[in-house]
Order: sequence, then C-alpha cells, then structure tokens
Amino acid sequence: MTVSSFTSVSLDPPLVLISIAKSSNLHDVLKGAKAYAVNFLADDQKSVSDRFAGRTNHADRFEGVGFALGSTGSPLISGARAVIECRPWQVYEGGDHSILIGEVVSARALNSKKPLVYYSQQYTTTEQVEYPAPPSDMVW
Ligand SMILES: Cc1cc2nc3c(=O)[nH]c(=O)nc-3n(C[C@H](O)[C@H](O)[C@H](O)COP(=O)(O)O)c2cc1C
Repeated sequence: MTVSSFTSVSLDPPLVLISIAKSSNLHDVLKGAKAYAVNFLADDQKSVSDRFAGRTNHADRFEGVGFALGSTGSPLISGARAVIECRPWQVYEGGDHSILIGEVVSARALNSKKPLVYYSQQYTTTEQVEYPAPPSDMVW
C-alpha cells in the first residue's frame, strides 16, 4: 500500500515508523507480518503510487509491476529510488491508525532518480535550493 507517513525514528538501533489506518485491508496483515519492505518511489512512478493507493481498478496491485524479493522475502519494486527491509520492532496505538515501528535490516539506494513527493494533494519532486551557509556554531 502507498504510505506517506514514513519517518525515521532511531539510529541505534536503526528504527523507522509507518502509520497504518485500521480500516485498511493491509492493517492486520502488516501488524502480524514477520517482515516488510518500504519502497521509496521515484518521480517517474506516479502510476505505481496510485495503484498501491487503490486509485486504479487492479484487484491484484502487483499485476504487471516488476519486483524482486529481498532477503526478508519482502517485495522490492523495480525502478524504486531506494528500498529498506524491516523486521517488526513494536506496534503502538495511534487513534484510528496503528504506528508500526520497524527495525531496518537492510537499506539500499537503487539509482539516482529524483524521489516522488506528495505535497498539497499533488505529486511533485524535490529541487535543490542553495541557501547561504549557516554560522559555524549552528552546524550539527
Ligand atoms: C500519497 C498517499 C499517501 C498515503 N499515505 C498513507 C499512510 O501513511 N497510511 C495509510 O494508512 N494510508 C495511506 N494512504 C492511503 C492508502 O494507500 C490506501 O488507503 C490503501 O492503499 C487502501 O488499501 P485497501 O483499499 O486495500 O484498504 C495514502 C495514499 C496516498 C495516495
């Protein structure tokens, strides 16, 4: 399924989160999954995002979509910008969503395409903006 609620949480251990609507078909599957992958789509993959958001009439969302299985057996979508594979770490209550925290077991950038971004109810991508360098005492 398409999610935009992805957030990095911790570096040691490496943890990330996604927030999944309790009403979605995949909620219980993901909550009980032994592993899952997060595919970061590239800016030429809008149709993939729409398909996995249930916006197209594909009963099988993977039909015609290229993918390979990663080391955890999770699907890694061809042409994605990057992929990570996770093992479940913790699930928290989040109102009408469940917050799934996953421990990252592998992470790979697959190409140098621009990322697909969803902003203001539209697909877009990133653009490099040059800002003056911050004062050195403000650099982390
Ligand atoms: C850009 C975008 C971001 C989304 N982000 C989330 C999300 O973070 N969590 C979520 O539960 N659903 C999210 N959705 C909605 C799910 O993709 C959609 O409800 C789901 O695929 C429906 O699956 P189902 O009909 O099998 O339940 C998002 C949809 C779009 C288009």
